[in-house]
Amino acid sequence: MALLELHEVRKTYRMGGEPVHALAGVSLSVEHGDFAAILGASGSGKTTLMNLLGLMDTPSSGSVLFEGSEVSRLDDATRALLRARRIGFVFQSFNLLPRLSVLENVMVPRLYARGVDTLGGAVERVVGDTFPRALPRPVRTRLVAPAVRLMLRAGVPKALTLPLRRLRDFAPESEQRARAALERVGMSHRLDHRPSQLSGGERQRVAIARALINRPGLILADEPTGALDTRNADRVFDIFRSLHADGVTVLIVTHNQALAERTRRVIRLRGGRITEDSRR
Ligand SMILES: Nc1ncnc2c1ncn2[C@@H]1O[C@H](COP(=O)(O)OP(=O)(O)OP(=O)(O)O)[C@@H](O)[C@H]1O
Ligand SMILES: [Mg+2]
Repeated sequence: MALLELHEVRKTYRMGGEPVHALAGVSLSVEHGDFAAILGASGSGKTTLMNLLGLMDTPSSGSVLFEGSEVSRLDDATRALLRARRIGFVFQSFNLLPRLSVLENVMVPRLYARGVDTLGGAVERVVGDTFPRALPRPVRTRLVAPAVRLMLRAGVPKALTLPLRRLRDFAPESEQRARAALERVGMSHRLDHRPSQLSGGERQRVAIARALINRPGLILADEPTGALDTRNADRVFDIFRSLHADGVTVLIVTHNQALAERTRRVIRLRGGRITEDSRR
């Protein structure tokens, strides 16, 4: 069975005036173990396609199947959990949290894999930006208890605070995983740095480690080398290649023809349609 299948997918954005057909009928099958580059001019629909493949969004029409299940029929929580556990995301602008250390940044998606995202969001709103600082060990002692207290005071049912309490138990395991992921991308020597203290290439390697922490079978990277010089782009690309060699399915949006040629499959978009889909 294919990992992902898109059938006649359309995505139309309506913003007052003319509707924008970001995807205008895309059919595509992503197989387990694929290593593909997605190419196309700016505005051709690449990010829109990635958002659908990554279960971040649902189509206006057509169907998206994740291992045979129609994604738009899953409720939001199930989709979020599937996304958190099975898919790793890498972005052009890294999207690291500035207040967290390298190690803490990499641990963040463990929260989501535990299904505490809505809860995490609620807590963040209640306790402000102190919450994300608390992810590793300090979570257990300093912040979980006050956060739970605040939630209870805010009227959140007690049962809903349970996953948060469970954070206490999984922090050490998350830290182990984060260290291993950082080792894999060659960033073990910068665990306590903040993102602002890293070079672009280093930030992207941390972001890849973050994408790996839940051991996803699928990595979606949207122009991951777009902000990097050639040397760093190569290094980042080599990490994707080695992930593919380990059996991970990797899809990379890129404007870099040279890198695209080093993948196994090229998917080209123009005006929201696929104009080329070739394997080698
Ligand atoms: N949230 C949105 N609301 C309205 N229009 C959107 C939205 N997101 C994307 N679009 C439009 O859909 C089209 C496809 O956008 P998309 O971001 O997928 O392009 P892209 O190929 O990723 O481009 P780039 O290379 O610049 O990142 C564009 O015309 C864009 O303006
Ligand atoms: Mg884009």
